[in-house]
Amino acid sequence: MVDAWHARVLKMYGRAIGRRRRELVTPALVMDLDLVRANIQHMMSRLSGMPAKLRPHVKCQKSPELARLQVEAGAIGVCTANVWEAIVMSRSGIEDVLIANEVVGREKIAALANAAREGNLTVAVDHPQNAEDHSAAVEAAGSKLDVLIEVDVGMGRGGVRSAEEAVSLARHIAKLSGLRLRGVQGYEGQCMLEPDRDLRIKKAYAAMDYIGTVVDDLAAAGFPCEVVSAGGTGTYDITGANPRVTEIQAGSYTFMDNMHGNLVPGFSRALTVLGTVAIQHGNTIVLDSGRKSIGIDFVLPTMLKYPFYKARYFAEEHALFDIDERCKLKLGDTVELTPGYAPTTVNLYDAYHVVEKDVVVDIWPIVPRGPGSGGMLMDCGMQGTP
Ligand SMILES: Cc1ncc(COP(=O)(O)O)c(C=O)c1O
Repeated sequence: MVDAWHARVLKMYGRAIGRRRRELVTPALVMDLDLVRANIQHMMSRLSGMPAKLRPHVKCQKSPELARLQVEAGAIGVCTANVWEAIVMSRSGIEDVLIANEVVGREKIAALANAAREGNLTVAVDHPQNAEDHSAAVEAAGSKLDVLIEVDVGMGRGGVRSAEEAVSLARHIAKLSGLRLRGVQGYEGQCMLEPDRDLRIKKAYAAMDYIGTVVDDLAAAGFPCEVVSAGGTGTYDITGANPRVTEIQAGSYTFMDNMHGNLVPGFSRALTVLGTVAIQHGNTIVLDSGRKSIGIDFVLPTMLKYPFYKARYFAEEHALFDIDERCKLKLGDTVELTPGYAPTTVNLYDAYHVVEKDVVVDIWPIVPRGPGSGGMLMDCGMQGTP
């Protein structure tokens, strides 16, 4: 399966191998592997003296090749945002995969249960009904599933809303067959974009102090937590230093988009979109890398070489910049843009142009793309499903 994905994108984009990065057909997604490796190493060395281990979130990159690099560098496994990403990772040989999110819906639950026959999969739960559905599915599939109780630590998204609810859910899970409760997850998403570092530290500690009380209550009720999974790129060194936390779910550090790069120092911008100056009138240049080829959520993309220009706007196929004498770009030139937000950039592409020392050395698939199953339902033993 993994080789088939690679072969498919090599067929589509393989002619780019050997070209300089600025010579690609645009818009093109470019991954600077030298910088990615440096980012991975930097994260590992920053966490090396801390109590928490690293479990990179791969929702942004969606790449088995990258996940393997991270595990080889010392990550304990990966986490994903949905069941399809988890199945891809598991089938690619990643031995410990956490879906750091709830999986709801008959076919997705069945696909997870079937995949759990072959790989070590853990899923977050925050509702007794959902736990029952997982239990019934693994019974039917003849597999077993590990679970973490998700605790809302202030973001107000997924997660039980109190320690009492956590204990009650733990008691419920204990009665269900096929499920093993391993601990808790609490994603302090409300802290990630706090620009004031002191305030971010304060907020992240408050969130982890709270999950600590939930862990204590669970232990007192007979449910010791072997796993306390939390953190992201914005808090990795704060939450990672917290002795209550066993693993950090950071993901964006691998590529470092503008949203995170403006808040978290020490990592390089390793992902870009190559565009062409398709229109030039006076001081306005228009690139062909509009919002159908680059993620603009939260923070706007910038030109890698000219980060001081703020885009006027991003239309579907047009990115407008007003320039001055500092910028030497002219019609037909190519230019790299750093995404505002990497996850919604990557998801637009089939593949990465993998670059070392300025030259494309490989094409890596992005799997699974989009929100859906990407054709994996049949593959997961869901007979008759399109
Ligand atoms: C559950 C969960 N964990 C961790 C992360 C951290 O990701 P990042 O490092 O990209 O901020 C996210 C991001 O959305 C998330 O939803």
